Amino acid sequence: MNSKKNYLLHTFNFDNNEKILKGENVYLFTNKKKYIDSTSGLTGTSILGWSNPTINKAILSQLNKISHIDYKYFVDENRELAAKKILSNSNHKLDKLFFVGGSGGEACEASMKLSYQYHCSIGKPNKKWFISRKQSYHGSSSDAIAVGDRPNLNLYKPFFPKFRAKINEHNIFRSKKKGETTKEYEKRSVKELENKILEIGPEKVSGFVGETIMGGLVGDVPPTPNYWKGISKVCKRYKIHLIIDEVWCGTGTSGKMFCIDWDNVKPDFIFMGKTLAAGYMPVSAIATNSEIEEKIKRKYDAIQFSTTHQGHSLGVAACLAVQNIINNKSFLEKVIKNGNYLRQTLKNELNNSDFFFNVRGRGLRNSLEYKCRNKHLFGIALTEKAKKKFNLLISAKWHRVCFSNAININRKELDEILEKFIKTFKLVSSNWSTKNINKIKHRSFY
Ligand SMILES: Cc1ncc(COP(=O)(O)O)c(C=O)c1O
Repeated sequence: MNSKKNYLLHTFNFDNNEKILKGENVYLFTNKKKYIDSTSGLTGTSILGWSNPTINKAILSQLNKISHIDYKYFVDENRELAAKKILSNSNHKLDKLFFVGGSGGEACEASMKLSYQYHCSIGKPNKKWFISRKQSYHGSSSDAIAVGDRPNLNLYKPFFPKFRAKINEHNIFRSKKKGETTKEYEKRSVKELENKILEIGPEKVSGFVGETIMGGLVGDVPPTPNYWKGISKVCKRYKIHLIIDEVWCGTGTSGKMFCIDWDNVKPDFIFMGKTLAAGYMPVSAIATNSEIEEKIKRKYDAIQFSTTHQGHSLGVAACLAVQNIINNKSFLEKVIKNGNYLRQTLKNELNNSDFFFNVRGRGLRNSLEYKCRNKHLFGIALTEKAKKKFNLLISAKWHRVCFSNAININRKELDEILEKFIKTFKLVSSNWSTKNINKIKHRSFY
């Protein structure tokens, strides 16, 4: 056998031989270096850092009882406890939690299926359209891609289901017209949904799918103050489900248990994923309400789809441990405080830079947008400089740097990230010219 042959099929072309040895809080240790991580595991997952003793203990204790079985026939008490805890401290008052599987994409599709099954159960099978927004990301299974809008995934268009439509992103920084007030922009944004519903026909539309804050693709753009209230009213007017994606911005990361609680609306579904078990296990779930369950069960007896690892015992044990840590007032207040501090510090230090556009977000989901020529390459240069010179991991690409650090981060660790990032930003922008571009190793990003 050729010992040089690699058997692993990587997502990207991969030429890094650096091995992860361990993680501790917000630090990662490899065979070469110790890094501080501002990304929670590069995709915003490890929101309580690594080696958290409470979560580790909960998983090990569950493992010593039973790893997982199909819970359609038996009770795992943790599932009820976790569901209660997740739903107990929210303004929206949704009262049912459905564990889906492992990924956010699955939870997106499951929400759409529940929405459609509900409409079938009340005799409206023609409600098969779903409307979503441009510049969204909801996962990479076929229907999640179809309601999302990631350019590289257009390759899979032939796979897309029928009956899907899009309106524009809701992004005050990009889409508000010159001379338009915030209120006028908000009204226009909401009206766009209403127009699309009327164009398709309200009797044919099942749901509207959207991330509470425009997340990873756009870079943590919060909605205007009454946007979701307006959208919710339109959905109610035409009996269309409001389906909210909190895979990125849920689980206390915004400083409230559910990010949509900042907006004071009651959606019909909120789906969650990556952060639910803080990256210790893959878990995804949907919050919804009893009326939806009752109608579905009366007509069909059961929800007509499931997955093998739905409500996985180890995942749910981790999920409950996460809730026990984050689901309290003082923890969440600290998330808000640290988020305000992060945005203010970046603004104070970088506002005068020609490369700084703005910094925005909620709680500890934040992005800094930069402005320059060849923004994507500028982002890659930031990422590389931060990693090589300052042992700092950041997620900078396209037009933004996402700060999605662990939400239990202490002030000293946060200061370390900020100080290193600010130095990186100043250094890269002071040398930025088109002649640098050829020196940047061009890695293919999404
Ligand atoms: C907002 C949002 N929705 C859905 C997903 C998909 O989650 P998963 O990758 O677990 O399928 C993601 C993943 O990044 C996300 O950010």
